Amino acid sequence: MQSDNAIGVFDSGLGGLSAVKEFMRVLPTEKIIYFGDTGRVPYGTRSRETIKKYAFQDAAFLLEHKVKMIVAACGTVSSVAGADLEEGLPVPYTGVVNPTAYAAVRKTKSGRIGVLGTSATIASHSYKRRLEKLNPELEVFEKACPLFVPLVENGIISPDDQITRLVAERYLAELKHSGIDALILGCTHYPLLKEVISDFMGSGVELIDSGRETAVYAAKVLTENNLLCDTLSQKSPEFYVSDAPEGFESVAGLFLGRDMGHTVTQIDIEQF
Ligand code: DGL
Repeated sequence: MQSDNAIGVFDSGLGGLSAVKEFMRVLPTEKIIYFGDTGRVPYGTRSRETIKKYAFQDAAFLLEHKVKMIVAACGTVSSVAGADLEEGLPVPYTGVVNPTAYAAVRKTKSGRIGVLGTSATIASHSYKRRLEKLNPELEVFEKACPLFVPLVENGIISPDDQITRLVAERYLAELKHSGIDALILGCTHYPLLKEVISDFMGSGVELIDSGRETAVYAAKVLTENNLLCDTLSQKSPEFYVSDAPEGFESVAGLFLGRDMGHTVTQIDIEQF
């Protein structure tokens, strides 16, 4: 059984678009329906209960669109509500933690891996636990970077921007001397700060983008479940948000590397 139904992808805001870009590259003939909870971003500073509630509402909205798979393109949701979503959803689910952890383990040579994430992600130790399960010998260094999300949501991402550089230095200074050779960008907003992060960390540290790894993993899940789309034309994604679309449209172009046009629809997520 193949399926032309869409893949549902969600995040607290814009960050998941860094994953959508990779999905469009890895699975170009699949339709993507994206929900960004822009009215309630950030999730990363909220309680576990609130994050879980929001995650199930986001998934319920996507299920109304008959999606065949749900992807939490959000490190915070994947870390805090991943197990509940996996168990509670009627379609295959993946978050970003597991695929990204696998990639980091494949890539490190020193056995020292850094993890950047929101406060909720780092407090959950989701990446650290996953990494240590895959290889108990690894040394994992975690750092919460709560100011990165507002910088990205406001489009303040240029490596020439003094504020962006200072914030990055403040968060990354300790990690720079920890001997890591792989650094997980454990929040889907962070790939937009790749240049700043990599300038500071230097070329000896490989940055691991959770969006790309998750897209590759989702392709595997769809193949195994016989759910790949059988029409081979390229499809345009649909975008939904929970607050005024204008701000989203202007910054979303940065994430996707292309103009969004006016393809974003506002919905009331509290109904779900
Ligand atoms: N993009 C979300 C993540 O990957 C974080 C943004 C937020 O704090 O809402 O964790």
